[in-house]
Amino acid sequence: MKNKEKIYEGKAKIIYKGTKPNTLIQYFKDDATAFNNKKKSIIPGKGVLNNFISELLMSRLSEINVPNHFIKRLNMREQLVRKLEIIPVEVVVRNVATGSLVKRLGIKDGKVLSRPIIEFYLKNDDLNDPIISDEHIIVFEWATHQELEEIISIASRVNDFLTGYFFSQSIRLVDFKIEFGRFWDSDESILMLADEISPDNCRLWDIKTNKKLDKDRFRQDLGDVDKAYQEVAYRLGVLSENEFKKVIKNDL
Ligand code: ADP
Ligand code: TMP
Repeated sequence: MKNKEKIYEGKAKIIYKGTKPNTLIQYFKDDATAFNNKKKSIIPGKGVLNNFISELLMSRLSEINVPNHFIKRLNMREQLVRKLEIIPVEVVVRNVATGSLVKRLGIKDGKVLSRPIIEFYLKNDDLNDPIISDEHIIVFEWATHQELEEIISIASRVNDFLTGYFFSQSIRLVDFKIEFGRFWDSDESILMLADEISPDNCRLWDIKTNKKLDKDRFRQDLGDVDKAYQEVAYRLGVLSENEFKKVIKNDL
């Protein structure tokens, strides 16, 4: 679609007005940022891979009745989604201790948790996305008590499903971040999963070798970031190596 109306440009995606009422188009960029935009680079093909990976995972989640914004993929870099009122809370689910958890609490990196932990962060770049509690969410009215219960229940289902899905491709789902929003239907709102699920916001380790197949390769300067994202896509079967090479040649 030419001459789309740009609504917002974020660190990894551009949001355009959708083709139908109450829809948006997510355009996936190759830009990678970390540490709240302090570290920046381009990972060639990342946007295409994340578009395909997120399409697959959101579609599978729809099939098990996890409500989410995904409608359809439009092309290599764009998908049509439902327009939501985003809840300004980043929901992180952890199965293995790593990242900010080990820094904050001095836990051993790689410790498998006795049960998943769900954490909340305020979605506010100016404040560096600080960790918050459920009490903050309710008192400051970022979500209602009922929404919060639903968020926890959906996050837990997403974790159980994705853990098994990735495991079947010999990938350990270490942790991930998801976002939620309200889809307004007259004066009723339905809570839905928003944004994307991809190696940008999941930690994915090879089951046997613990090789990192996600954005930590960029955050920690481990190299071969593009190859890691490609490997996730190939293992999940969303694109073959030949298809990806063809796609990149004829990119938008
Ligand atoms: P950021 O804003 O953190 O830089 P992105 O570059 O990924 O992140 O931009 C995508 C933005 O679109 C995010 O802020 C996200 O909350 C928002 N978003 C994702 N899905 C939807 C949706 N269905 N409706 C409205 N906004 C959405
Ligand atoms: P953390 O260990 O740095 O808190 O990250 C937890 C998970 O959340 C990890 O899978 C990466 C993801 N994440 C994002 O998607 N966006 C962010 O801004 C941050 C800090 C983490």
